[in-house]
Amino acid sequence: MTELKRAHNFNAGPAGLPLEALLKAQVELLDYQGTGMSVMEISHRSKEFENIINEAEADLRELLGIPANYSVLFLQGGASLQFSMIPMNLRPAGASADYIITGAWSKKAVQEAQKLGVTHIAADTKESNYNRLPPKLDLDSKAAYLYYCSNETIHGVEFLNEPQPPDGVPLICDGSSDFVSRPLDVTKYAYLYAGVQKNVGPAGVVIGIIRDDMLERVPANMPVMLDYKLQATEKSLYNTPPCFAIYMVGLVLKWIKKLGGLTAIEARNKAKADLLYQTIDQSGGFFKGHAQVEARSRMNVTFRLPNEELEATFVSEAKKLNMIGLKGHRSVGGLRASIYNAVELSDVETLVQFMQEFQKKYG
Ligand SMILES: Cc1ncc(COP(=O)(O)O)c(C=O)c1O
Repeated sequence: MTELKRAHNFNAGPAGLPLEALLKAQVELLDYQGTGMSVMEISHRSKEFENIINEAEADLRELLGIPANYSVLFLQGGASLQFSMIPMNLRPAGASADYIITGAWSKKAVQEAQKLGVTHIAADTKESNYNRLPPKLDLDSKAAYLYYCSNETIHGVEFLNEPQPPDGVPLICDGSSDFVSRPLDVTKYAYLYAGVQKNVGPAGVVIGIIRDDMLERVPANMPVMLDYKLQATEKSLYNTPPCFAIYMVGLVLKWIKKLGGLTAIEARNKAKADLLYQTIDQSGGFFKGHAQVEARSRMNVTFRLPNEELEATFVSEAKKLNMIGLKGHRSVGGLRASIYNAVELSDVETLVQFMQEFQKKYG
């Protein structure tokens, strides 16, 4: 048998999955628990799948401490569909909603919200090329909700603390790229959602955690597949869900629990990010971080080299050493190392060693 050669995977999403979860899926691929079928081949109405989705929800509730007055939804259409579903479901006709723009993803959410109704920009950090958190917010105390993105995957800017909405204004968060990477207080959110393909599974599912009183806002004429209330009532099984992706989410959540839960995963993620930022900061300006220090993402480390030619050389030399996904997003350029939950400290150590050698050679 040839030796298994896994990549040092710094992809921004879909991203690496824990080896343990992949191996478990491999073992169960042809015969899931004595059914003689894979999870891809069983009915979404079967007892086996019911157990899979219920257990994934129970593990998520335990890890995040989700209170009983919140529903957990497994949705389709990618995180991008949430940009439309949120205003359609949760912004009453004629009401205005507040949005904070800190990068490409919150900007896209605003563009969809604007098509559908009144949208107020509470802050926009465009003038600093999305490298920081907003110094102040222009908040509307009557807003239908305050929306923000906790981690801007492309720019590498992360809120480690939630923005504070005015009393009574529900907080809504796109947590796609830092979901279950650290503990958080779910009760601060009226709706928190995440595409799972970065920290907790493969592409194909969005997890939504919604406070039940928000479901009362859903208009009666909502198309079924876009209706949060219906998805909650039907326990995400109104139609055929992405069964295999949900199964993989379940396996990743079990892996996080085994590691010690969100406090343990946060310590692991922080150690990786600290090592990488330290290497950038100690390079004497050869590597330049994009985000300001207090806004630095622990998930997506964005940085630049003195010129684009060197950046291209960096990406291609890294690839030869089996380090994948280091090119920055096409809209921003530069370099980006995404170091989600499944990335091991040893992967980051390998990258850091390469960065130091690269600087010696080209610096
Ligand atoms: C923060 C954030 N929000 C939303 C999205 C859109 O996700 P999807 O491709 O699942 O629609 C992404 C994708 O990378 C993202 O990083």
